[in-house]
Amino acid sequence: MKTTLSVIKADIGSIGGHIKPSQKLLDRVTSYVKENSKNLVNDFIVNHTGDDIAILCAHQLGVGNETIHKLAWDAFLDGTALAKEQGLYGAGQDLLKDSFSGNVKGMGPAVAEMEFEERPNEPFLFFAADKTDPGAYNLPLYLSFTDPMYCAGLMLSPKVGEGFKFHIMDVAHTEGDRMIELDAPEQLYDIATLLRDNERFVVESIHSRGSGDIAASVSTSRLHNIAGKYTGKDDPVCLVRVQGSFPATGEVLSPYSIGHFVAGFMRGSHIGPLMPVKNNAPVSYFDGPPLVSCHALCVHDGKFTEVADAFDHPFWDYIRDKVSRKSVDIREQGFSGAAMLPYSELEYGGIVERMKKLDKHFKIRE
Ligand code: F6R
Ligand code: MG
Ligand code: MG
Repeated sequence: MKTTLSVIKADIGSIGGHIKPSQKLLDRVTSYVKENSKNLVNDFIVNHTGDDIAILCAHQLGVGNETIHKLAWDAFLDGTALAKEQGLYGAGQDLLKDSFSGNVKGMGPAVAEMEFEERPNEPFLFFAADKTDPGAYNLPLYLSFTDPMYCAGLMLSPKVGEGFKFHIMDVAHTEGDRMIELDAPEQLYDIATLLRDNERFVVESIHSRGSGDIAASVSTSRLHNIAGKYTGKDDPVCLVRVQGSFPATGEVLSPYSIGHFVAGFMRGSHIGPLMPVKNNAPVSYFDGPPLVSCHALCVHDGKFTEVADAFDHPFWDYIRDKVSRKSVDIREQGFSGAAMLPYSELEYGGIVERMKKLDKHFKIRE
């Protein structure tokens, strides 16, 4: 049986700033999906990471399906009406277009989807990040799928060791999807050359070279490119199938122990370390630090098992302490140098306008 996993996520309003949605808003989105998804989806889960609400569905309709996308869009619209009623901050923030046009891609919400023939048991991970952009997954995915220092399976399991094909998107190209396919391990240095630039080149999907099966799928939309101005960071989602011929759950989680520096944080304009958090975590310090949650579960005959919270373990408390220290370290230098994003990536127009004004007052010394 072919199953499709679709996760569609949006910020449609929060309490107390860009912190977290209200419980009523979560309940409203959940009940909208429940009432309107009969005979359409086999199962669904609604949750939040920071100020973003994600709808994860298992269904049989394939990727990019209009009915599924419309269901999520309408659930977010319905939620936005409540967010407005409740006076939530940034109500409807990520719904950038007025009317639905067949697919939520390019309309604001982040989407990651994959279709596959279910294995007898089908474990997978669903990551949701807030206060950062899709390139945040570049390094962890690179390490889990190419580096035996993080993925022992590349050495120990012949199937995992067959390697993986990376589909990488140039997200600066807004006229269409500019893609390249590269094979690990043979083209490792080419993959690294692209993936070092998190703001330009983003992993869209990864496939097993042995079976051709899809292993990972990431949302690649950049709100920056859709709206042409600041509308919030993209807050990407990612699905990863695990075990068997794919990396094990722990091999996919292990790179998150780095707390690597990513774009985002306050006003989507800074650099901060990515903190692995428990499910349904809010945002705090300096509108951050950038955070990522991980739901681990199985899908079977299109139905979800209960969810295990992959970052809810004493080990990750230790990592969270480390990431907190890294956050304070970089924040100590405020706006200076590497603490803030380059001019081209600033999500607010303030500095650009200020520079324009100042520019007129520069004089060439005689
Ligand atoms: C980043 C984010 C926040 C806001 C900041 C200012 O994704 O959501 O850091 O940029 O709180 O928000 P506004 O401009 O809405 O006052
Ligand atoms: Mg927000
Ligand atoms: Mg957000």
